[in-house]
Amino acid sequence: MNKLNHLAIIMDGNGRWAKSKGLIRTNGHKVGANVVEDITSYCCQKGIANLTLYAFSTENWKRPKSEVDFLMNLLEKFLIEKRENFVKNGIKFHTIGDLEPFNNSLKNEISNLKNLTANCDKLNLILAINYGARDEITRAVNNALQSGENISEKSISSHLDTSEFGDVDLLIRTGGEQRLSNFLLWQASYAELYFTPTLWPEFTSKELDEIISSYQKTHRKFGGL
Ligand code: FPP
Repeated sequence: MNKLNHLAIIMDGNGRWAKSKGLIRTNGHKVGANVVEDITSYCCQKGIANLTLYAFSTENWKRPKSEVDFLMNLLEKFLIEKRENFVKNGIKFHTIGDLEPFNNSLKNEISNLKNLTANCDKLNLILAINYGARDEITRAVNNALQSGENISEKSISSHLDTSEFGDVDLLIRTGGEQRLSNFLLWQASYAELYFTPTLWPEFTSKELDEIISSYQKTHRKFGGL
């Protein structure tokens, strides 16, 4: 049975879900944030060590300012509201991506939650925010060069934002699109990919459980036999 050390999810379909219910797009994000909590709890219970969620890409700034502002506020609220829950359940909070462009208030909450959960050791919850794999790989190569290292797969891997979490084993995308959208391109080189038509606000731990069961039975070859 394949071990699942690192699960990564592209949470897509919030806007379409809202539209299908006659709601505005941001309602989809709001419900989506509740699903983040459910899926995180499930991963905790199942003993999955690392969960990376794509919450905001380097390209998402192109959305209308009102939607970007809503997402930033929602994220900040989430980080404040989930404090107790994270500590109680041993969830250690991390981010990947360039935090520079975020406002100070959000940066402070990110830093607060990281400090507060620094000793938690059940699950690493890694939020990808202002994240793009090309940006991450470019930063990693520049950092390796600045440290005077020879460029190799090992040196690049060690400078990636995800260096402590390892390669992705299973990458799921909800919402029916079959693309990676600049998410963990290096780390997902040998990941098993799973695309589900379910829109993120309707994604459940039951569906995740079924996907994981199927992943566990897959024959992973890593280029071998
Ligand atoms: C993609 O759906 C989703 C996003 C760009 C944002 C993801 C955010 C959340 C799941 C909620 C907030 C998360 C946290 C951690 C508080 P889309 O809007 O592109 O959907 P569409 O393809 O149907 O338009």
